[in-house]
Amino acid sequence: MDVPMPKSSRARRRSSSMVIAALLTGLATACGGSAISGEQPASQAAGGPATIGLVVPKSGVYAPLGADMENGFKLYLDQHGGKLGGKEIDLKVSDEGEGPQTGVPAATKLVTQDKAGAVVGIVNSATALGLRDTFIESKVPLIIANAGADDVTTSGGSPYIWRTSFTNNAVGASLGAEVAKQVGGEPVYLITADYAAGKEMVGGFKKAFEDAGGKVAGEAYTPFGTTKDFQPYLSKIKGTGAKAVFCFYAGAEAVGFVKQYDQFGLSGDLPLFGTGFVTEGAVLDAQGAAAVGTQTSLHYSDLIDSPKNKEFVTAYQAAFKEAPTVYAVQAYDAAAVLDAALAKAATTDGEAISKALAEIGAVDSPRGTWTFDAEHDPEQPYYLRKVEERSGAYVNALVSELAKG
Ligand code: PHB
Repeated sequence: MDVPMPKSSRARRRSSSMVIAALLTGLATACGGSAISGEQPASQAAGGPATIGLVVPKSGVYAPLGADMENGFKLYLDQHGGKLGGKEIDLKVSDEGEGPQTGVPAATKLVTQDKAGAVVGIVNSATALGLRDTFIESKVPLIIANAGADDVTTSGGSPYIWRTSFTNNAVGASLGAEVAKQVGGEPVYLITADYAAGKEMVGGFKKAFEDAGGKVAGEAYTPFGTTKDFQPYLSKIKGTGAKAVFCFYAGAEAVGFVKQYDQFGLSGDLPLFGTGFVTEGAVLDAQGAAAVGTQTSLHYSDLIDSPKNKEFVTAYQAAFKEAPTVYAVQAYDAAAVLDAALAKAATTDGEAISKALAEIGAVDSPRGTWTFDAEHDPEQPYYLRKVEERSGAYVNALVSELAKG
């Protein structure tokens, strides 16, 4: 199915100083965890406000993603009078930081000390992997609103683990056949941040690409969170005979990678493909002209031409003076599924919310309607997007809906 092209561009209104400040924020300090207990606070047992935890990075390379997620969650809450499922919400926001060292204790504390009935958020795959067992043991639902680590759900479903985002494998695989078709038998080089998300996205892409007849020219894995100079990796690519490149980077790393890809003269010769995170939101503003022509796959673009998305984009822009991102939508939808679950749940404790999550059915989202699959991941379409300049702003124009692999 072809996605209708938008009639006009929507200028991003984020100032460059805000973007730079967000991208340069420092690392988090870890907070301590404690033993797990399923006990609920008196307020939840007595029908008082439901305590909900939101864990997103406020520091490190993924801080801008965390800001978008907090905005998305809070927008939904504001649109519903501060309530979910008709119940008052006591929202406790915690800093995930850059990885599991900070993210695991931050989320664990929300369960053990704050007695949250559910926890939402988590950007980093390694953090999600580190939290899975804690949530299963404590019988509190974790609604992952970004981190795509495959094993969090695919190693065996749990009533307590849910995801409103994607699996790394699926988002990588969604672009495989399309790239194979575009390069027509020429080899493609794979490069990514060296941690769970990058390895799984590249793994998913590689399998789908090779299944469609594609050839891989070589692979590089760059140290996560510390690589600022990509030249040693980029300088090797041309010598491999590659005719295109597939990548995964996000946040501050995506800015550095795409700018240097252009500066070292690769963008003129080797088309750049990637999962959509590489050109999403604030990073695209910072990449500017260097990103033009980059093609990505993702389950969202702010240019989706549907009444639900237009309404969402208008509300988001009015509230935050910038266009929404996939991170904002994933968190907005996490609030929506909690809204539906809390409306059905007999109490606001973890077990009641988990049971109700299994009964909510289709989610009417800015990305389009989606449902949880058997492993509690979204069953959703992926779109081919291409970065274009429109009226001085850079956008992820929708090209088509990608065929299911
Ligand atoms: C992840 O670690 O799963 C991850 C992080 C940032 C993204 C996408 C996935 O943009």
